[in-house]
Amino acid sequence: MKALILAGGFATRLRPLSCTRPKILFPVLNKPLIEWTLESLSKSGIKEAILAVNHQTAFHIKNSKFSKGKVKITYSYDPPKKPLGTGGAIKHAEELLGNDNFLVVNGDIFTSINYAEIIKKHEEKDVTATVALCAVKDPSRYGVAEFGDNGRIKRFIEKPQRGESPSNFINAGIYVLNHEIFKYIQTERKVSLEREVFPKLAKEGKLFGYLFDGLWTDIGKAEDYLEINKTLLDDLYGRLKNVKGSHEWINEPVFYDESVKVEKGSIIGPYTVLGKNVDVGKNVQIKNSIIFPGVSISDDSLINGAIIGENVVIGRWVKISGNCVIGDCAVIGDNVSLAKGVSICPAKEVFRNVSEARCII
Ligand code: GDD
Ligand code: MG
Repeated sequence: MKALILAGGFATRLRPLSCTRPKILFPVLNKPLIEWTLESLSKSGIKEAILAVNHQTAFHIKNSKFSKGKVKITYSYDPPKKPLGTGGAIKHAEELLGNDNFLVVNGDIFTSINYAEIIKKHEEKDVTATVALCAVKDPSRYGVAEFGDNGRIKRFIEKPQRGESPSNFINAGIYVLNHEIFKYIQTERKVSLEREVFPKLAKEGKLFGYLFDGLWTDIGKAEDYLEINKTLLDDLYGRLKNVKGSHEWINEPVFYDESVKVEKGSIIGPYTVLGKNVDVGKNVQIKNSIIFPGVSISDDSLINGAIIGENVVIGRWVKISGNCVIGDCAVIGDNVSLAKGVSICPAKEVFRNVSEARCII
């Protein structure tokens, strides 16, 4: 079976980082999300993945390093400046997908789902669409399904108002579809699979749910992106003590590239990931944070609960608080404090304190 990975559209969340790289390339424990997805697809017997992308996303993917394993990759391009929506992008790949059933995966999710299981469930029933569902606390940010009989979804609502969700079972962004789906999507126009096609299929009794347990996150929000790295760190440390040898600066659990340099008196962790060539000065403390490759952090700075983009330069005595997101190549000057939830756009130089959650452009 072929898999279609949806990785186009415009990134609206985690903005300072997603405007310089598509979310499918975000590192999770220093490995690009796409590599995790391809590995997992390959384990379920998928040999070919079609990436539904716009030209920008394709450019980034082609210029980045990740292992494809044994999966063959082909591209289906959205027309320039004209995103097709999730449904339109599927329709656009119709020829490449052929006549068999196929798997669709949103490119911005991290999950431990066993794809082989949902494929099996779909093929047993031989239905039009099977949607992977998982239970979450707040379903309002997602597509929500209401179960009918025998695994049928009787209602599907995309992003219901808070308090108006018919259930807590949300669309995980993973589907097995059969060829009949193409009849429901018009050609070459923007079509939302979730707003236009799924509600119709549900009404006609052709939409089925596959409930699964396990890890699942849409990495589009800073909290969720931090959380999935945290969960994986716990998992990794639970299985292997002293994952990669031990340094005196480590306050477990920490995941780091071997190339990092950390000077005396610094304490890294818990729950911190350091990317390639990260350079940390003296007496620095970093907790609950993800530090992308090439970042340098000078002496006596404190970072707690932040995501720091590639090649960012952080001065001395800097304080960066929870859920701050710093875009690539930004510079944070000496003595600057950033309050909770501050975002800094790529390449921005900041020399003054920012005392409330806002985006500095
Ligand atoms: N090629 C292409 N073209 N891809 C697209 C387009 C497009 O026009 N629009 C969106 N995508 C891709 C995105 O890159 C992403 O990987 C995926 O489709 C889903 O789009 P998002 O913009 O991330 O949607 P969402 O997170 O708000 O909601 C979707 O995902 C939730 C689960 O994370 C929906 O499918 C929800 O129903 C679902 O619960
Ligand atoms: Mg998403």
